[in-house]
Amino acid sequence: MVRRVEVAHATPADLPAVRALLLARGGEGLVGCIGLEVHGEAGLLRSFAVAPAARRRGVGAVLNEAALALARSLGVRDLYILTTTVRERALRDGFVDLPRAEVPEAIREGSQFRGLCPATAACMRMRLP
Ligand SMILES: CC(C)(COP(=O)(O)OP(=O)(O)OC[C@H]1O[C@@H](n2cnc3c(N)ncnc32)[C@H](O)[C@@H]1OP(=O)(O)O)[C@@H](O)C(=O)NCCC(=O)NCCS
Repeated sequence: MVRRVEVAHATPADLPAVRALLLARGGEGLVGCIGLEVHGEAGLLRSFAVAPAARRRGVGAVLNEAALALARSLGVRDLYILTTTVRERALRDGFVDLPRAEVPEAIREGSQFRGLCPATAACMRMRLP
């Protein structure tokens, strides 16, 4: 488990490092990122990545918790993800599979659903307590 991870809101200055991370080139200083897209009471988790050298030490879990806390604080009730890699982990976290047709239109209209994630990606939802 990672002992100290500082979680902070990204700023425009972080964009190159976040891009590098999402392109799997690693990032100096930045070890992980997670994005939250909010549409009223619906939220979409996206751009979840941890630098290869820092994986499997709990950084992803810390980012995930921070994103959930942020979502709750913004009034999000239903959180969605599309994933080709972490379905099992998401099931353990409390997400359940969901037909894409049940995802709110505002989220389905976004870039993640319209093209960035393949049609084979698992579509999942968690109702935030
Ligand atoms: C997914 C990711 C962000 C997790 O970050 P992390 O810091 O390694 O996460 P944690 O250490 O908190 O948890 C590790 C757990 O995540 C799951 N996991 C991580 N990578 C996985 C993979 N490629 N396939 C399946 N499960 C994976 C496993 O359950 C793993 O637990 P284990 O080590 O006991 O097997 C990181 O592996 C990553 O950047 N992967 C590439 C990008 C990606 O697939 N993002 C998700 C898009 S929805």
